[in-house]
Amino acid sequence: MEKNRSTKAARKGLGQGLRRLLVTSALPYANGPIHLGHLVETIQTDIWVRFQKYSGNEAYYFCADDTHGTPVMIAAKKAGKTPEEFVAEIQREHLRDFQGFQIQFDNYYSTNSPENKALSEQIYEAAKKKGNIDRKTIRQLYSEEDGMFLPDRFVKGTCPKCKSPDQYGDSCEVCGSTYSPTELIDPRSALSGAVPVLKDSEHLFFKLGDYQTFLEKWLAKGVSTGIKRKLDEWLKDGLRDWDISRDGPYFGFAIPGEKDKYFYVWLDAPVGYMASSKNFFDRTKRESWDSFWKKPGSEIHHFLGKDIVYFHTLFWPALLEAGGFQKPDQIHVHGFLTINGEKMSKSRGTLVRGSTYLKFLEPEALRYFYASKLGSGLDDLDLSRDDFISRWNADVVGNITNIFSRLCGGIAPKLDGKLGKLSKEGKALKKAALETAAKTAKFFEALEYAKAMREIASLADSINRLIAEKEPWKLIKTDPEQARTVVTDALCSARILASLLKPVLPSFVAGVENLLNLKEELTLANLDYEFPSGHTIHPYRNLAARIDEKEFEAMLEEEKKLSGTIQPAKTPGPGASPSGNAKPDEKKAEAKSSGIITIDDLTRVHLRAGKILKAELVEGADKLLRIELDLGEAEPRQVFAGIRAAYQPEELIGLTVAAVANLQPRKMKFGISSAMLLASGEGAGLSLYVAHRSAKPGDLLK
Ligand code: 2FM
Ligand code: ZN
Repeated sequence: MEKNRSTKAARKGLGQGLRRLLVTSALPYANGPIHLGHLVETIQTDIWVRFQKYSGNEAYYFCADDTHGTPVMIAAKKAGKTPEEFVAEIQREHLRDFQGFQIQFDNYYSTNSPENKALSEQIYEAAKKKGNIDRKTIRQLYSEEDGMFLPDRFVKGTCPKCKSPDQYGDSCEVCGSTYSPTELIDPRSALSGAVPVLKDSEHLFFKLGDYQTFLEKWLAKGVSTGIKRKLDEWLKDGLRDWDISRDGPYFGFAIPGEKDKYFYVWLDAPVGYMASSKNFFDRTKRESWDSFWKKPGSEIHHFLGKDIVYFHTLFWPALLEAGGFQKPDQIHVHGFLTINGEKMSKSRGTLVRGSTYLKFLEPEALRYFYASKLGSGLDDLDLSRDDFISRWNADVVGNITNIFSRLCGGIAPKLDGKLGKLSKEGKALKKAALETAAKTAKFFEALEYAKAMREIASLADSINRLIAEKEPWKLIKTDPEQARTVVTDALCSARILASLLKPVLPSFVAGVENLLNLKEELTLANLDYEFPSGHTIHPYRNLAARIDEKEFEAMLEEEKKLSGTIQPAKTPGPGASPSGNAKPDEKKAEAKSSGIITIDDLTRVHLRAGKILKAELVEGADKLLRIELDLGEAEPRQVFAGIRAAYQPEELIGLTVAAVANLQPRKMKFGISSAMLLASGEGAGLSLYVAHRSAKPGDLLK
């Protein structure tokens, strides 16, 4: 969370004067890890906020974890933690992952905070005073066994339309129809398997229809045309009252004046944007929070995915209007991520965690890739292996890094690293670079990042062309001063290029800043600059390394491994399967669809005790250790384990650990890995499973 830059120099930047921007991305739920889909949004937002800051605008980026609701409450219970402990732990993990991708939040907070409680109550009370809250009795499925009303996703049964068994309470994954949980045939609690009963309960409703005229007016400017069309459909159909309450037990804020009623998670989630910014401004006293949320003159921008447009363009502005707060100026909506052309799926192991990615690949490769694919529309974005690799290797390493490595690595040292004066050609190139900068800035502003990246790549082409034409590696032998001019000409424009790239690749550009020995950080406000004659640059150090398809494959493999060991959140717990009268074959089928395995399934996995005979570092792999594991066979097996952050090689020798012995051997860059050690946790907090008493190598775990 770097300091916001708003120096005088920066104010003269590419932005038209100083704008004040409060920017958010959607709050991730606190019941699962950050995956590459979340990162499309946070990287898109981070690039935009950095662009604004580097352009001299006063911009802030706020986010938080979305902590409330039944799924979080259940996940905490399963983990044997209080919801508060559980969400605090997840928040640390989320922040760690985001930081790994250089997401620079000004504040990353939690919806389970005093600020959020106070603001949610304030908005609710204001709406109530205006007569926007109604009470209605509704009939819902209640599980006596679980002691709670069951949210749609916690009921399973047979689809009323196509009769497929084991479907959720809101929609059928087989025929795609949607329905109410009370329509399900043979409904069961997905938590306990118990048969629920119908029970009445009084709920509170926000009368969204009271805001129809207001919303029609607001929507005319707050959203793009594509989204507006969709919203017009909803508006035309008439706005329905919105159920904002949930019965206890529920992890959330109690509704003032009500007994055992809580705000529905989607009421306090967007208020989390306000709460995160309030916490920041109150803490830092940098600006007044009121100046963003209570007075006009600044801008509020929300970035989000197309699945949650409804909440942000109807409920949210209406709640803000009810509470007397400023409304968002723009809602920026993006599409979904697919991997190798397919929808990401937890069960197929393609819902790749950010932390898994970081074990194998550079964070900036993903930042660059997303930038090179993103436009301002709602199109989905495909992360295909070959495209991903070639963008980084061809554009960043081959084209851009090449400029610096050729000039600063091969030639500058022969000129004592000293630069000279710009030639006429150098000035012309610089002029062209500044023109590229103006276009690129417009593209960044409009979220047309792919176009911005193409501008940058074509500037790199021009610089490389100049170098190729002038052949400074030849000039250095015949006319060193001419060679110095070529280096100076090229680096002056390459400096502009680096500034343009900074919102996308901050670390790469930090390397350039260091290499060019710049006194002032690169921004988009100090583009028009010439090196003073005699300026000395630093010796070249590699700025970016090529990536290999094996690393991408290894990431997918690892994710598959991880998701195989973790129960999908949607899977009901033991007892959920109504197996009472089922025949053996049906039982098997039921078990398969419910995620429960039979003893036969278990015996397919050979879990064995393995003694670690040798452990050592692996050169070129800072996450791995090479292990020789005795599984009671003639020869020990070689295993590459991603545990280096948590263990020193010496402390492992002699331990008897749990291992999967019949996993297909995996070919890695460093050799073949022929088993897998069982571990839990991540990074430095990872733990291996070690035999409690003496166990012989090869013993079967059962
Ligand atoms: O869809 C989601 O992942 C929600 N947790 C997003 C909430 S965004 C905001 F409203 F808080
Ligand atoms: Zn169906």
